Amino acid sequence: MTSIRIRRRDTIDRPRGIGGLCYGGDYNPEQWPEEVWREDVALMREAGVNLVTVGVFAWSRLEPEPGRYDFGWLDRVLDLLHTGGVGVCLATPTASPPPWFGLAHPDALPVSADGTRLTHGSRDTYCVCAPPYQEASVRVARALAERYRDHPALAMWHVHNEYGTWCHCDHAAAAFRDWLRARHGSLDALNDAWTTAFWSQRYARWEEIAPPRATRYLPNPSQVLDFRRFLSDAMLGHYRAQKAVLRELTPDVPVTTNFAFGGWVPVNPWEWAGEVDLVAVDHYPDDPAQAAGQTAFAADLARGWAGGRPWLLMEQAAGIVYTGPRMRAKPPGEIALHSLQHIARGSRGAMFFQWRASRGGAEMWHGGMVPHAGPDSRVHREIRDLGRLLPRLAEYGEGGAVQADVAILWDPESWWALESPAFPSSEVRYLDAVQQAHRVLWRSGVTADFARPPGDLSAYQMVLVPALYLASGATARNLASYVEQGGTLVVSFFSGIADEHARVRLGGYPGALRDLLGIRVEEFLPLEEPVRLRLPGTHQPSDTSNDVPRNMRENITGDTAQDVPGNAGEDVPDDTGPGIAGTIWSERIESRGAAVLARYEGGPLDGLPAITRHSHGAGQAIYLSTRLDDDAYAGILAAAGLPASPAPAGVELVRRGGEGASWLFALNHTSERQEVKASGTDLLTGSPIDGILRLAPGGFAVIRMPHDTP
Ligand code: GLA
Repeated sequence: MTSIRIRRRDTIDRPRGIGGLCYGGDYNPEQWPEEVWREDVALMREAGVNLVTVGVFAWSRLEPEPGRYDFGWLDRVLDLLHTGGVGVCLATPTASPPPWFGLAHPDALPVSADGTRLTHGSRDTYCVCAPPYQEASVRVARALAERYRDHPALAMWHVHNEYGTWCHCDHAAAAFRDWLRARHGSLDALNDAWTTAFWSQRYARWEEIAPPRATRYLPNPSQVLDFRRFLSDAMLGHYRAQKAVLRELTPDVPVTTNFAFGGWVPVNPWEWAGEVDLVAVDHYPDDPAQAAGQTAFAADLARGWAGGRPWLLMEQAAGIVYTGPRMRAKPPGEIALHSLQHIARGSRGAMFFQWRASRGGAEMWHGGMVPHAGPDSRVHREIRDLGRLLPRLAEYGEGGAVQADVAILWDPESWWALESPAFPSSEVRYLDAVQQAHRVLWRSGVTADFARPPGDLSAYQMVLVPALYLASGATARNLASYVEQGGTLVVSFFSGIADEHARVRLGGYPGALRDLLGIRVEEFLPLEEPVRLRLPGTHQPSDTSNDVPRNMRENITGDTAQDVPGNAGEDVPDDTGPGIAGTIWSERIESRGAAVLARYEGGPLDGLPAITRHSHGAGQAIYLSTRLDDDAYAGILAAAGLPASPAPAGVELVRRGGEGASWLFALNHTSERQEVKASGTDLLTGSPIDGILRLAPGGFAVIRMPHDTP
């Protein structure tokens, strides 16, 4: 084994030794006899695989008894992979402690909210706060790093797997109290932040505080929110402890972990992103009808967490997707199309879970790059085809920044707070609101970034603020200054309602954003049935919602600007326009200077404002007090100045720009042939494109464009 030192600390965000895009997946050779390994590596070579995650669930094989390591098999695997030209993303196996661990340390097994101590038998049975687990994790990470620090196959470290395990045990309780002391400083401050005066919850001693365990009725929402924040930090501490050892022994090897996505995950990726050398995410779309839009959503989110830098799609499914009530096989062509979507939006490659579908075990029905049928299969042929295609994108390398004029604010803490059980409507869901905002942009052909509040928004023409339930004073000031300087802000209902401790801001909703929006909301009226909204004047009544954007555009933006009243609370003339519907939610709004763009029609809010616009400084702040359908939402955005996309419906265009070069990714999600205006060279075919790019159904292209292309 020879030592490889090719990278300085400040550039270790790329798996060592891999020049182009990463291609591969989780490889679990411990599930297979050795004779299969040779075939695996031969197939990987043929498929163009250059990176595999090894050992992610192999702890019981690596350390069959406490302190006794068996590295022989892993030595052979790594040597074989290296000989085959495949780099290794070597995992620390701490997501799946071996059976002996729980027997030796029953106090390190996790306890659910109802007090049940879980047992070994699945994976993720540990408490990150339990000292024996922390020690065993660092020990096994050190043993691996000492063994493989100089192995030439070692390309990257993959710490743990999908952090997200909850525990309510006494170790977690003690650590939670320490965390609370650091966050709140004093019991008085905590009691105030948690509103413990309600239901006699006032704490007189720190020892009285516990995680939000099962209780009689509703838990304290501020306590639940703080516990999720604490879990994120506790898991980050576990990650950091391993990273420190890996960094000490292999200073040139990037370290990462794979972020999971879901309401169950108490990890704040904004806090974690700075701790990983390369942001890595797993993505499994759960709605076949929306899989392409969900893919774009996840990829944009990952790029946001990475601060616009390249990131890596660590896992996706090659075949059957192991999610939802009915497993779903990816239709032909989707493996490549979704991989290209991720790459277009900043991923440094396309990786899968897992290389070979398992023959037994809990996830034996999850698809593999080599399915149960073996390499002679449709799925594996698609894997090979994609592997042959990706090197043609090598020149694209870093690929330049993804160009986006619009941002969506993403705040996991608002998501967590909105998961609380006692809200005015269980239909107000954070993820629905954010996904709708992204979907509307995606369908309009507009690439969006995700941004963390508060942050620098000056690069964006428009910022969408869906369900930002918690808003600090700093966030409110940040949004106001963005609008003052000319930005367009589109805020949807249930934003700016509470402070960072999940306490309601008093004096009228949406407390933190009231002045900026030029409105005051007196009460919420969750809707059982849809309500009609009356749009402002148009003298050409229309019966299609597609006309809404045109009507709205005329009334909000430049074309007929003289028709638009100022900020005196007057209306855009109305009564003659077409209607749209609002669902789920409505509010009693009083304009405090905002122009009214649409009014409620009928019901208790008849004639009152539903959608408003407030000029503030050089910009405008628009407020949606009810849920619109996607077309109406798109209409509002178009009317507010959303840049129009040149792409036909169903064709995704992503523009990348770097120093001296720019590229256009074009992906056809329709079953029709499509044409897009473009000139340059198609990197995948090598053909020149002179004005018109023709895309087959489900087809895609990556065009290197002349650098001066507008
Ligand atoms: C996650 C995990 C994998 C596997 C897949 C499929 O992403 O990281 O280990 O369980 O889901 O379910």
